[in-house]
Amino acid sequence: MAAASSRISSLGLLLAAHCALLLALAGAAHGHGYAPSGGVALSSGFYDESCPSAYDVVRRVIQDARVSDLRVPTSLICLHFHDCFVNGCDGSILLDDDLPAIQSEKHVPANDKSARGFEVVDDIKSALEAACPGIVSCANILALAAEISVELAGRPRWRVLLGRRDGTTTNIKSANNLPSPFDPLDKLLEKFRNFNLDDTDLVALQGAHTFGKVQCQFTQQNCTAGQSSGALENLDQVTPKLFDNKYYNNLLEGHAQLRSDQVMLSDPCAAATTTPIVHRFAGNQQDFFKNFVASMIKMGNISPLIGKDGEIRNNCRRVNKRY
Ligand code: HEM
Repeated sequence: MAAASSRISSLGLLLAAHCALLLALAGAAHGHGYAPSGGVALSSGFYDESCPSAYDVVRRVIQDARVSDLRVPTSLICLHFHDCFVNGCDGSILLDDDLPAIQSEKHVPANDKSARGFEVVDDIKSALEAACPGIVSCANILALAAEISVELAGRPRWRVLLGRRDGTTTNIKSANNLPSPFDPLDKLLEKFRNFNLDDTDLVALQGAHTFGKVQCQFTQQNCTAGQSSGALENLDQVTPKLFDNKYYNNLLEGHAQLRSDQVMLSDPCAAATTTPIVHRFAGNQQDFFKNFVASMIKMGNISPLIGKDGEIRNNCRRVNKRY
């Protein structure tokens, strides 16, 4: 018995040392080519003169689309995340295959059968081209759509920073490294830190799982007998349509749908990193909202193409010309 408990405490020490080492290494990785612009390059008034109706056009198309598909807003915010984590927020996720130059990111495991809403982005782009031709980038469409998704689910609102231009390449290696629902916490923290997003950003941004759907194959419980792997469940089983802090209370009860959500409490690295933040957000919705907005702005600042870099795509699925 004594030998067993000493083995357990040695294991605990080993795990703690493992977490500390990984977190220190991750910290040292800050500042490789993904440093955010700090908001200097982008501005909320970017289209004030060139396309003042941009926000309203995006909002109207999303409103229309969600009449027939309620999930459109949540799918669009997810696209913004998967865009920003690959090559920065440059609309690369929207590109279709155009081989051999462009290999689409849509086929990597994190996107295949999960990333959706591309037809709605096409409709938004067409409406914007009619209102102000050649002005609004596809990357900015995703950033605006992300804010509108949250706003339509109740709150909070924020002024989206704009001015990103569209990329002309995809990055399959990086898309294959998108955070996975099966990653342990140290891996998730490392993937966020690679973009200068810290522990609070990880906890706040995962709060987006307060709404939207998940295929049962990705849930902790997995699919029940007779369910197909793609059967949909609510990510937040208590208040599935509301953007609120109930998600964190679900975690406290051990009821997260994704293992990558629950690890913020259950992982050996959690106590020293994410657990206190989950408790804070579970107890104070305003605190969650404030941090969610700040983290969305930080995420939206990942390596934007500005000035003369990139292009304003005519069609979000294709680069304007082969470079
Ligand atoms: C730790 C990082 C994350 C992981 C591992 C992760 C994983 C997942 C998975 C597995 C799904 C379900 C996909 C499916 O069933 O097809 C999902 C859905 C979703 N994710 Fe995340 N996610 C992460 C972070 C984020 C972030 C940062 C946001 C936004 C800020 C976000 C927003 C969403 C939304 C809204 C949905 C529902 C999409 C829909 O209804 O179509 N996630 N996520």
